[in-house]
Amino acid sequence: MSQTVQEPTVQQMIEDWNGTAVIQRHDPSTEAWIFIALHDARLGRPVGGTRLRSYPDRSAALRDAMRLAEGMTYKWAGIDVGLGGGKAVVDLPAPLEGEERELFFRRYGRLLEALSGAFATGVDLGTTPADMDVAAEETRFVFGRPPGSRTTVDPGPFTALGVISSMRAALAASTGSGSLEGRTVLVQGLGGVGLPLARMVAEAGGELIVSDMDEDRARTATDELGARSVAPEAIFDVRCDVFAPCAVGGILNDRSIPALRASTVVGSANNQLEAPRHAAALAERGILYAPDFIVNAGGALAFALLDRGVTDHEEIRSRVRGIGDALDEILRAASDRNEDTLAAAHRRIESRLAARPAIDDAGRDAEPAGVGGV
Ligand code: PHE
Repeated sequence: MSQTVQEPTVQQMIEDWNGTAVIQRHDPSTEAWIFIALHDARLGRPVGGTRLRSYPDRSAALRDAMRLAEGMTYKWAGIDVGLGGGKAVVDLPAPLEGEERELFFRRYGRLLEALSGAFATGVDLGTTPADMDVAAEETRFVFGRPPGSRTTVDPGPFTALGVISSMRAALAASTGSGSLEGRTVLVQGLGGVGLPLARMVAEAGGELIVSDMDEDRARTATDELGARSVAPEAIFDVRCDVFAPCAVGGILNDRSIPALRASTVVGSANNQLEAPRHAAALAERGILYAPDFIVNAGGALAFALLDRGVTDHEEIRSRVRGIGDALDEILRAASDRNEDTLAAAHRRIESRLAARPAIDDAGRDAEPAGVGGV
């Protein structure tokens, strides 16, 4: 039986959104639609990555931008660096390479420059440091470039460092030892964060299991790291100590949670919970969920430090490791108050956000509502 679900219009979505504003632009040469969702500027100007991919329709692209921008508000608030939440999504109908790609990022750079700093951006899924280097020739509003440098830093390894530090904190809280030695860790997705994370887990003596839609990528990891690989559709059959979602959002949902055979979830994917209530569902099953926007803030933190002129990578790495300590505080607060970990993480950031006035009191939900997935 097929049923047509009416997609909300872009206008409807903007009406319902609790964010600040949406900037939209059509790029005629590529037929791409660009959505820049500015979620919250109470703690500072909106900054977030630019995601580039093809979406089924424009509302799906805008929805992704809105959710990811909201996630950025939480991510920045968690590390308290005086920046606000925003995200750009480029809905590109066909793959873009070579000169055409370069020309697109030049135009994109000029768009950011025309917006005079209303939004600053950096690398995200589907975009590369090289793309950002091109954009940065046209604008001052690219993040992740040390002052005076002409190349963009890859945030992936910093994000991965924050994730593995969080894994240690989560394991310490649940088992009494933060060591990865002999622990089974399932890394889902071997992209910009998943691959460096898999390397770190293997180096730390973890039993590594990987999964990626792209068989070549999975094979490279198994060859290089001695990992076991499982097919994407079989990940919930795997018993493991830590499940590290580093691919798509919405992976923790009504279907996957009952099937999950992990004791802990600590990964880099944005918006892992399909809905906020899934945090409680995980807690009910006795699975420790480390809130994604706390765990995956390593790249953002590195970028914020670079922006402030901190260029020593060792110093940046040591600050990023502190994400494990932040998670530890959240886990303690959750257990002291007998609440789920998402609620504890929200309380931590809400107090920071609520200290500043919101734009209006139009009745929309100005509190962090939790970031739905996909
Ligand atoms: N996209 C990455 C993230 O969400 C890195 C990034 C952070 C890019 C902040 C721009 C700004 O963490």
